[in-house]
Amino acid sequence: MKNFINLKDIPVKDLKKILIDAKRRKRFRKKFENLEVDKGAPLKGKLLIQMFEKSSLRTRLSFYLATKQLGGSTLSLRPDELHLSKGGESIQDTAKILSNFGNAFMLRTDSDEKLEEFKKYLSIPLINGLSPSSHPTQILSDIFTVEEIKKKPISSLSIAWIGDSNNVLNSLIAASIKFSFKLRIGCPMKYKPNKKIMQYIKSKRNKIFIVNDAKKAVKGVDVIFADKVISMNDKVNKIKKLNQFKKFKINKKLMSFAKKDCIFLHCLPRDKEVEENVFLSKQSKVWQQALNRVHVQKSILLYCLDKLR
Ligand code: CP
Ligand code: NVA
Repeated sequence: MKNFINLKDIPVKDLKKILIDAKRRKRFRKKFENLEVDKGAPLKGKLLIQMFEKSSLRTRLSFYLATKQLGGSTLSLRPDELHLSKGGESIQDTAKILSNFGNAFMLRTDSDEKLEEFKKYLSIPLINGLSPSSHPTQILSDIFTVEEIKKKPISSLSIAWIGDSNNVLNSLIAASIKFSFKLRIGCPMKYKPNKKIMQYIKSKRNKIFIVNDAKKAVKGVDVIFADKVISMNDKVNKIKKLNQFKKFKINKKLMSFAKKDCIFLHCLPRDKEVEENVFLSKQSKVWQQALNRVHVQKSILLYCLDKLR
């Protein structure tokens, strides 16, 4: 079995295998209804237990459909209904029960330490469904979307990220190093990636640049990524931070500095960091991006359960 916690800890050959499997599975399902099961039902009899300590729409739905399409089942736990959240049970015992009842555990949490603790005690695969430090299933799926639309390996493309240095960006940075693609990050210098991430960037031969200018960041790129300036549970002065990002709005003008066929991606949910006429434009591929989570997460589940062909 394998965990899926952070892209930087997963061999790139495995990540590529996941993407190849997802592409093949998506192709085979062209005429299928959402709940129709893939040939061979590779997860028949298997249960994915999910727990969300923070809000989620897409991750919740996409893991549900992913498991169903593979012939398995999911159960979503509400943390407020567990003894664990009230201090009435340890992670160790909770993990033992999860391991005896389920076949994989997906956790969205506000604590990277909690993920580490669960990893220590689970004997089933652990999937990170978003933590403060990363959002690996999102970014692997986004690489799938980029390659699907551009019909080219991501290593031959240049990518821009406009926005905060958050969990999604951390995973994009890890992906840039793993898949070797050019990444330009546009943000106010105060919000550049933290020391640990900067050290990780420096320790690798990489193609990552950070600029304090949105125009420079997007100049000539193939893809522009954005995310909310204020992430869930971001404990900052919101008005002040939003103000500091004023010059980093994605609008038509900014898009015009990128390549003509540049696409816009956003993991969602969105706020005001992108203008409606970009978000709803032809260049925006956000709905396709969200749906692809199903396909890629199916292959992630198979990878974790050693069932990837
Ligand atoms: N992009 C994403 O993870 O969405 P949710 O927070 O709705 O799961
Ligand atoms: N950076 C965002 C991503 C949401 C999917 C957050 O953590 O809230």
